[in-house]
Amino acid sequence: MPAAVSIDGVLVPAGQARVPVLDRGFLYGDSVYEVVRTYGLEPFEVGAHLARLAASASRIGLELPWDARRLEAEIRRVVQASRGEDPPEPDAAPWNRGERTIRVVVTRGSGEMGLDPALATAPLVVVLVLPLRGPAASAYREGVAAWPVGARRGGDPAAKTGEHLFHVLSVREAARHQAHEALLVDGQGCVTEGASSNVFAVEGGVLVTPPLQVGILAGVTRALVIDIARAAQVPVREEPLPLPALLRADEAFLTSTARELLPLTRVGEGTVGSGAPGPVTRRLHQAFREFASGATS
Ligand code: PDD
Repeated sequence: MPAAVSIDGVLVPAGQARVPVLDRGFLYGDSVYEVVRTYGLEPFEVGAHLARLAASASRIGLELPWDARRLEAEIRRVVQASRGEDPPEPDAAPWNRGERTIRVVVTRGSGEMGLDPALATAPLVVVLVLPLRGPAASAYREGVAAWPVGARRGGDPAAKTGEHLFHVLSVREAARHQAHEALLVDGQGCVTEGASSNVFAVEGGVLVTPPLQVGILAGVTRALVIDIARAAQVPVREEPLPLPALLRADEAFLTSTARELLPLTRVGEGTVGSGAPGPVTRRLHQAFREFASGATS
């Protein structure tokens, strides 16, 4: 499998890559991370992802040991090291075939056992490159289901940290209902985001997505989709999205690095719109596809 890993700047065979048991990322989820993808094996929107990594690190008081320029160079080096024969992927969407997902993880490092972050001596930087496993082509044609789960527990929603158990358990709950994604619903009954995605609804030709202030991750794809929609004269409103409003919407979709725009056609026990991907979703996805191919070609 074309995979490659670097730990603190040293390339390690993927099957032998290990982190120390005293690493605080392992012990406490005391880490920040980013997920970047490639198009044509070129990292996409890497500047935006590394800016968010820096913002996440600053929110938890972790000083990144490398600047963005060094991180980007390392990402490119590890992607190069992952080149190789990809197994056939008959079910994959064409734009995902042969591509990579890049996970950059910076932990606070190891030290004497204890919660106090001052016990850590030096942050650890891992760059992990794996074949991208995006949604199947059929998911884009037919749409996917999402399952609503109750209010978030713990963590800073605006920071991408290793403290992720709530999201893990949300996805477990969604999977129990054969749903592709979990939708996080806050105390006011509003959908805030997915466990690893942002959420959009189309209501009467207007794109509606929850604002950052409701406590969500500022998705890189979310920001691009908002820009692309405005450029395509589709009005965008950033406002709270009550769960019943999502169910009444004409269309809905999820966004994330690996998903791009993925039609959302079922929520809980209900159907969104006609139950099939809608025209605004298709049009915006097409515009996104053109933007992504242009950005890296
Ligand atoms: N997840 N919201 C949450 C909670 C996320 O974890 C993610 C991304 C997003 C979408 O962000 P972006 O468009 O920048 O990928 C929204 C990544 C991909 C992950 O954890 O795998």
